[in-house]
Amino acid sequence: MLDTLTQQPPDALLALIKLYDADPRPAKIDLGVGVYRTADGATPVFACIKAAEAKLVAEQDTKAYLGPEGDMGFVHALMPHIFGGDDPSQGGRIDGMQTPGGTGAVRLAVALAKKAGVRRVLMGTPSWPNHAQIMADTGVELVAFNHAAADGSADLDALAAALKSAQRGDAVLLHGCCHNPTGIDYTPAQWDTIVDLLAETGVLPIIDLAYQGLGAGMDEDAYGTRAVVARLPQALIAYSCDKNFGLYRDRVGAFYVFTRDPAQTQAALSNGHALARANWSMPPDHGAAAVRMVLEDAALTASWLEELASMRARIRQVRDTLAASGTAGHVNLVPLGQQQGMFAMLPLNKDQIAAIRADHAVYMAGSGRINIAGLTTDNIGTFVGALAAVSG
Ligand code: LMR
Repeated sequence: MLDTLTQQPPDALLALIKLYDADPRPAKIDLGVGVYRTADGATPVFACIKAAEAKLVAEQDTKAYLGPEGDMGFVHALMPHIFGGDDPSQGGRIDGMQTPGGTGAVRLAVALAKKAGVRRVLMGTPSWPNHAQIMADTGVELVAFNHAAADGSADLDALAAALKSAQRGDAVLLHGCCHNPTGIDYTPAQWDTIVDLLAETGVLPIIDLAYQGLGAGMDEDAYGTRAVVARLPQALIAYSCDKNFGLYRDRVGAFYVFTRDPAQTQAALSNGHALARANWSMPPDHGAAAVRMVLEDAALTASWLEELASMRARIRQVRDTLAASGTAGHVNLVPLGQQQGMFAMLPLNKDQIAAIRADHAVYMAGSGRINIAGLTTDNIGTFVGALAAVSG
């Protein structure tokens, strides 16, 4: 029976990690998978996480099972940072559960939406390739609309048209901030319009908030999420700590449900627990426990927010340097200064992406996405030169 299975290609984005590692050229530049890098090209463990891990090792006295919901101290400690305000749970209307990374949270959001009757999910494209894979695997139909307008801002008209032509029972997947792969976020005014449209059409928002704090700021990056829960009756939120706590391989995420009343939220979440049990039973504990310990300690929380602010400032500085370069070959880099987060899409074709890798040792996704954080003051000139050479 197993001989019916055919060889599948490796995930294109994750395959880049191995290709880059195998390249012996010392001046190679990694702009592939979305990990933050310092100005020295390193992806260190956050100081607050190191401190929390030391405490965890010293204090943790059992590794016994928790449950499908994972570490609820972690889930609740994050909520003030995500939802803000005096009552981040909105009187118990918002609650959540821990998931294996942001991917686990998106997977759970889509699966739960499907269980609730959603058959189609509207989504601006391009998007993170795994969004489409998760929808295909979960068995919901993806209805694509255009995300990026020609001027490098968000194509709100396309989103509005998609929402207005939505069918009863549709959901829409929205990036909370730091759009992956384009870096093109909605402005606060656009979010207000989107919330109006969601209120009008009744389309269920699924927000993927995977990069909070890496765009304009913790509060600014949560504007859309907070506007949604302030004004709409329901929403699903997938959250990742993999980037903003630097915990990538530890897989730290959370899934939040927002409904009309606390009992309904708990009922919906109980479905999330059942889905989790059937998929991964319970999430890995270590990273989430470390995040909880950071968030329970004022000094460690301050250290986290400071480290995050320095990452954000470095990403902004690289963006501004790229934007100040004007154009490289046919690529206009100016809009990158207005965009946010770790990613940008460059209008390169497959041959140019192959050439920049073969001739200049620059590794970027096949879609033309670059990880802004892979650029440093040392390699940015080389990169812009390589871009001009392949696209001129
Ligand atoms: C990315 O888009 O590079 C990251 O979100 C990593 C991943 O899992 O794809």
